[in-house]
Order: sequence, then structure tokens, then C-alpha cells
Amino acid sequence: MAACWQQVDDFEALLEPFTPAVNARRLPRTLAGDFQGLAERLRPRAEAEGGLLVLSEAMLREVTDADPRAMATLLDDLRRLEALGREPQLNVVTRYPRDERGLGFPVDVYSFHVDRAPVDADTFLCTYAGACSEGLEPSDAERLIDDPTLRAALRAHHGQDDGFEAFLSEGCFDLNYRRRPGAAPFSFGLGHLWRLAVASPGATAPPCIHRAPDEGGQPRLLLIA
Ligand SMILES: [Fe+2]
Repeated sequence: MAACWQQVDDFEALLEPFTPAVNARRLPRTLAGDFQGLAERLRPRAEAEGGLLVLSEAMLREVTDADPRAMATLLDDLRRLEALGREPQLNVVTRYPRDERGLGFPVDVYSFHVDRAPVDADTFLCTYAGACSEGLEPSDAERLIDDPTLRAALRAHHGQDDGFEAFLSEGCFDLNYRRRPGAAPFSFGLGHLWRLAVASPGATAPPCIHRAPDEGGQPRLLLIA
């Protein structure tokens, strides 16, 4: 059975172990508050940081005229994930670095990819403002290095010596995917809290394939843990 995402009714259900059939869970939420206004206020600081501002709680509290409802939700989410022993991070993003090496396909967060961890892990994700992250069901995806043409291009770039497989792994080329023809990604949506399966040694599910969207000129505000 192909894995897919599952909607849950409460935070506890979000935490249930993944299975071969479920590699992502979504807790749907309709959040009140002006998150976009908050992201806009922080846009200049994100730009000054090269496009990505890691927003500490102290910096968040210093934002003048922030919508108190948005602020309360962000602090609540941080608390809830910290209570699990996680280290949640708020990010304001205007742009991520792009892979411009011209290796046949870009290996960056705008490309469909899975996250990898050396230990048992998962990823929490929420987009509060701006364009939403996207996911792709495994059955709709093909791994880029399984494409003979792309693999040959990487082989040519690397050279014929040993260590090609290590090169693919170290460069994260093995983590990137593309859509099968006709397949459509799904949007993570605004405000919903997601938990995604990650490629790790003890994983009980295929890792969840996802990507960052084109920002479309709007700053994004998101939570990652
Ligand atoms: Fe990722």
C-alpha cells in the first residue's frame, strides 16, 4: 500500500507512530490573527540576513504592534513542541539559497526532497503566512538519481573514481525527487500543524516528500521543529 498523509483531530493523534501507510499527519487549524502583517514587519530583517531570519522568542516579543492573537498562537506552538523535548524554530523567509551549479537538477529546498537524520526523527511544520509548503505522495514521485540521464550527468560531473555513491549521499542527491507526469502535489495549507516522516535508521514509514514554495514576493512565516 502506498503511503499518504492522514488528517487527525487532536495534537495527541498527531504524535502517533507512522506506519507503512501513513507518512505524514495534519492537524487542521483555522488560526485567527494577522500573521502576514507580522511577517511583513520582519521582512527587512530577513532580507538583511540573506533571506532567512531565525526568529528568537525575544525578537518576537520585541515586534511592536504585533497582533496579540498571532503572538499568542506562536508562543503556544513553541511551548507545545518544547514540552516534547523539541527545539522548535520560527523562521521568516523571503528566499532560500538556490542551487545554481547546473548539475541537471537543483538540490535545494525548492526541489521535492525528503529530510534525513542519523537518528530516529520526524519534522513538525506549520506555515502561518505566505506561500505554503507542498507535499508529494510517494506513488507520485520518482527519485532523481533513478533517472539514467540525470545519473549519468552526475557521474560525468563526479568522474569515474570510486566513491560515487558516497558523493550522491553526501551531496543529498539521493534525497531529491520529481513529480511523475500528471501527478499533482498537495498544499500543506496555512495554519495547519504537520508532522512528517523523515528518512532515518528506524523509520517505520517512507519519508514524506515535500518542498518549499516559490515565495511569490511575500515573506513567509513558518515553524519548524
Ligand atoms: Fe525539508
